[in-house]
Order: sequence, then structure tokens, then C-alpha cells
Amino acid sequence: ATAHAAAGCAAGARRSLEKGNAVSIARTEAAGGLALLPEVLRYTSSLESDRALLREDLVGSLAHLAMLRKTRIIPEDQGLVIRNGLVELWKAAEAGTLLLPGEEDVHMAVEAELQRRIGDVSGLLHSARSRNDQVATDLRLHVRDAASQLIGPVAAWVLELASRARAERDVLLPAYTHRQQAQPVSVAYWLASHAAAFLRDAQTLRFVLSQCTASPLGVGAVSGTSLPTDRAYAATLLGFPQMTANGMDTVGDRDFALDFCFAGAKFAVHASHLATDVIDYATSEFGFVTLSGDISMGSSMMPQKKNPDLFELIRGKSGAAIGGLTSLLVTLKGLPSGYNRDLQEDRGPLLCATKSWPAALAMLRLALPRVTFDKAHTERALASGFTQATDLAEALVKRGIPFRQAYKAVGALVRKCQESHVGLADATPDFAATVDAAFDADSLRVLTPEGAVSRKRSPGGTSWSSVDASLNTMVDEANALAESASKTPTVAQLFASLKDL
Ligand code: ARG
Repeated sequence: ATAHAAAGCAAGARRSLEKGNAVSIARTEAAGGLALLPEVLRYTSSLESDRALLREDLVGSLAHLAMLRKTRIIPEDQGLVIRNGLVELWKAAEAGTLLLPGEEDVHMAVEAELQRRIGDVSGLLHSARSRNDQVATDLRLHVRDAASQLIGPVAAWVLELASRARAERDVLLPAYTHRQQAQPVSVAYWLASHAAAFLRDAQTLRFVLSQCTASPLGVGAVSGTSLPTDRAYAATLLGFPQMTANGMDTVGDRDFALDFCFAGAKFAVHASHLATDVIDYATSEFGFVTLSGDISMGSSMMPQKKNPDLFELIRGKSGAAIGGLTSLLVTLKGLPSGYNRDLQEDRGPLLCATKSWPAALAMLRLALPRVTFDKAHTERALASGFTQATDLAEALVKRGIPFRQAYKAVGALVRKCQESHVGLADATPDFAATVDAAFDADSLRVLTPEGAVSRKRSPGGTSWSSVDASLNTMVDEANALAESASKTPTVAQLFASLKDL
């Protein structure tokens, strides 16, 4: 928890909504044993982080309760008392006035508070349920909510990158390999390259959603229940089209959380990658972009500075996302079959991912429109390099000269230009012909950056026609992803459908 707090993932100011210990409804003392030491309770309690699951827990309980009433495992009149109690807890939670007793987790705290409010009738609710299937249900609802609510903004970001690309089709800059100038491309192409990566993030979120379609509710502690439950009914109420297949697997399965954390770590890597490009491009060495003042930071000492701290922090915070994924993998590695309390440690990485991903995304969407390309600088960079060398070689190939021979001839021309301090685009036919007779006025015409860019019409290439086609495909896919995600019921919608059931 401390590591996550340091990474900016703490729930903000420590909440003090918990009140002192309440009646212990299911601790060892309730079964006639010794009372738990308060220090041990403090160390082992997950209530502080579990608060993020409170709404999911209440909705899960409402669905479980509806199932218990339908199957007549509990009497209808008492069931309605419990339902009204749960609805009141939801309303208090939404109003921010719900004080939960200092129990070992949110599930026990809700049950204890319910008992305080409606009395012992609350004890019927935990029939045919364990906290093990309860927490698995809460977590799936949480991940499903987080993933479905993120797909729209990630898709919108892809659309924003696409429309910015359309606006920047005539600005050219060098593309790099090995951090050396390689070939001229358009800014549109660079933007579309990042859009392609973020589109994969939206697709990965859709995969995460596909891993949250089975309801864990009703597998009990580890092996099911002898009570005549109807798991399918509860699953339907929670918007799960399926049920998990095996209780022993279900209570120890956090793969869906891993998938979400992986998706978040991958997004963070993509965000870092874009941030690094912007940071580089904003240096005086590159000079390709300027950052507007409202997203740049000054230095406390150097008055001339305009620093890209925002992009550095988008990149820097990716460490916590990657660390969270690693932490969850390590927690899961080596656990025996069934439920183990270690699993409670899933909360740190998972809640970190559900908070840090939307925050970083919001910053990117805010910042990129405030990054302006400087056409004069990007064109100067192209003029001083030899980035059209491959295009010249390809012009010779078009005339039937074998590529290896053309490659050699252009290599010799580049060296000659470097020795004579002449840019490749400035090589005259007479000058070039001294290197190889194949060079004539016609072949040298490809040497403008505009010519080099517009000729790369292969699919996935940097010509405007290729970029335009790729953007159209990306835009269609982004729209389809946003549309499909909007069909997943949110926890709030589930509550609305369960509160009167
Ligand atoms: N606080 C626990 C968790 O988050 C809930 C399940 C506890 N189960 C148990 N048998 N102690 O994982």
C-alpha cells in the first residue's frame, strides 16, 4: 500500500469514515473462540482499499438476495426487509454519509452495518455465499466497469489523434531508426503511428471485458453449496451472460485483474513512448514542436526554462503501472488451489491501474492540442540530412537497376555530398553523374522530401493516400469499440434495476 501511495495511487486523504469495532459477526469469537487482537485486525484488514468496492458489494448482495428470495431459500417478507436495508446503505454510500464499522473487509463491514440497522434478519443474506465468491464478484464488476468506462475515452483519444493527423498532413519531419534520421514522413504519419498503438489499447480493453463475462457468485467458499440456488438467475441480474465453471478455480482466479493491469501497463508504455517523442521534439536540439505555456513548467533557478514536466510525469508514472502488474503476478505465483488471503493484495495494483490510467489519458488529451509543430524547423532538419537516399535508390530500381547496385551508387553519392558539404537535394545532375552515370535530372527529382513522402503509397506507408486509408480504418474500429462498450451495464445501472426487485 505504501508503494502505491508513493506512486500517487492512494485513495487521496486517508478516509476516516470507519468507526470503531462493531459486533463481530463472523470472527473466531463469534464461534466461541478468542477475540482477534486489534493489532492483527488492523494489519489484516482491507477495509481502507475495499471501500472502492462498496457499490459493487451492495449490488452483488442485492442480486444474491433476489436469488435467495426467488428460490425461497429465505422468506419473502424478511428478504424485503434486507433489500430495503441494502438500498438504504447504497443511498448513504452515494451521499457520502455511510460510516462503516472497522471490520476486516468491506463485506463484513456491510453485513455488520446492515445488522446494526435492521437486526438479526440480516443474517439470512449470507446463505449460500462466502466472502470468497463475493470478493471475486465485486472485483469482476469493478474491472468490468473500469474497462467499459475506459474504452470510450481511449477510442475518443484515437479519434482526436486521427483528426489532428488530418490537419497536419503537409508538415514533414524525419522518421528515425536507431535515433538517426532515416526517412522523411508527415506529422500525420507520426500521429497515426501513436493512434495505432492506442487503438490496440482499446482492443485490449475489449479483451478484458470478454474476461469478465462469467459470474463467480454462488460457488461459495471453494466447492459450491448444497442449498437449492439459482446461479444463472443471479448472473443474469448482474449482467453476466455466463457462470464460472469451477468453484475451486473461481475463488483463486484473478486473471481478469491481471488482464486489466496488463492493459494498463501497456497503455502506460504507449503513453510514455508518445511523451518521449514530445520531450525530444521540444528540445532546442530538435526544435520540432513548441509547448504552450499552460502545460509547461518553469525552473526555480533558470528563468529561460520551459520544461516538459507533464510529459516526463506521464512517462514517469508508467513505472507504477508496470510495477503493479509485476506485483500482482508475484502475489498470484505459487499460491495453492482454492482461496488464500494473499489475494487481498490484488487491491493495490488493481485500484492503482483503475485510477492512474484515466488520469494519464486525460492529461494526454489535454496536452497534445497544446503541442504545436514548427514547420520551419522540421523542414530544416530534413534539408540537412540524407533521408531521401532510399528514394533515389528506388528510382533507379524502377529503371531496372538491381537494388544492391543502386544502393551502392547512392551510398557513393551520399559520401561525395558529405565531402563536398552539399545536401542530397542540392546535388546537380552533373555533380551526381561524376559518381554514377545512372543519375540524371529525372532520377534526382525524387529528392525533395515532399516527393519522397508522396511516393510511399504502399499500404501502411507515409503517403497521404496510405495514411488517409489507415486513419479511416482506425476511426471505424474506434467508433465500433466505443459503441460496443457502451452496452455493458454499469454498477449504477445494475443498482437501478435491482433496487425495486
Ligand atoms: N478480504 C478478503 C479479500 O479481499 C475477502 C475474502 C476473505 N475470505 C476469507 N475466507 N477470509 O480477499
